[in-house]
Amino acid sequence: LSISPFIATLPKVELHVHIEGTLTPALRWELAHRNGVALPYATYEDLKASYAVTLNHRPELNGRQPGIPTFLEAYFAGCEVLRTEADFYDLAMAYLTRCAEMNVRYAEPFFDIQAHTRRGVPGQAVLDGYLRAKQDAAARLGVHSNWIFCFLRDEPVADGLRAYEDARPWAAGSVQGGKGLFHAVGLASNAYERPPMLFEEGFLRAKADGLHVTMHCDFGQKDTHAHMDEAVFQVCGGMGAERIDHGLDAEDKEGLWRGLLERGIGLTLCPHAYHRRTATEVLFPKIRRLWERGVRFCINSDDPTLMHDVWIDGNLQKVYTYGGFSKAEMVQLARNAVDMCWADEGIKKSIY
Ligand code: ADE
Ligand code: ZN
Repeated sequence: LSISPFIATLPKVELHVHIEGTLTPALRWELAHRNGVALPYATYEDLKASYAVTLNHRPELNGRQPGIPTFLEAYFAGCEVLRTEADFYDLAMAYLTRCAEMNVRYAEPFFDIQAHTRRGVPGQAVLDGYLRAKQDAAARLGVHSNWIFCFLRDEPVADGLRAYEDARPWAAGSVQGGKGLFHAVGLASNAYERPPMLFEEGFLRAKADGLHVTMHCDFGQKDTHAHMDEAVFQVCGGMGAERIDHGLDAEDKEGLWRGLLERGIGLTLCPHAYHRRTATEVLFPKIRRLWERGVRFCINSDDPTLMHDVWIDGNLQKVYTYGGFSKAEMVQLARNAVDMCWADEGIKKSIY
């Protein structure tokens, strides 16, 4: 699917992208050599080919096939080459440079600090690298960003809380002397039997620090409706999350989509992530019905390099091509991301 000039030139904001899911095979290959990390691929072509196939990480659906990783196994395996401050800087700058090329003016990337500290990488290398890229991209490229600390939901809650305390000096919000890298917390990784309320303590600490709260409720997971009920009505002392990442399952559950409307919670959808496993004629009408109910959502990429190299522009193009959205509606979708984002008013006004 080629990107039309209309989609290419649309001013964009991206609110759902995992920075570690933007690591290209080329940069992974380069960093492996820079750091002397052995990769289980003899050639660059083999490495590239490994990105084409991954399995669903829902265990009960996952007919395991020897040698083929689940999506999240592939994602965390990619992280292995990231070791130093310079590596994290290069990863982040590569994404933000690509943003400039796609006319993405502002982004709120997720980062998984636990994916690195649990391998022995100092948290400071991760946070300083991302912070330097945030500053350089704003100054040199005019691409602004505010980052989102993610709890890894399949790790013990106590580990996530410790990671949060360690990262707090890099927070924005009301954290005294905070360096201003991240202004929100999220919840990512494998949702299997890991509902949002397990992390309520983390969300409350973030709120107390003046940060925003979002969380993944991925499409088609085992307990997505129940997880969404928690995200909409229960977390943050009953206030609910401010946004939900994915959340497409609300479409067929009236109590949920009405809850999203009443509470003004927007969804960050990633259509290609669902399109990998859902027929066009099922998926795009579902997205359209959500639109017709008035639920606010925006379009994003999730993990573009692990999802067939479909970036935010490719995701918008899919909605435009398959979803029955007019040009005016596509502009509204792009504006939704501006409305849903947590940038300063000055940045928002400079986009639309
Ligand atoms: N973390 C990074 N990518 C993810 C995905 N697609 N689903 C859940 N957690 C993730
Ligand atoms: Zn995601």
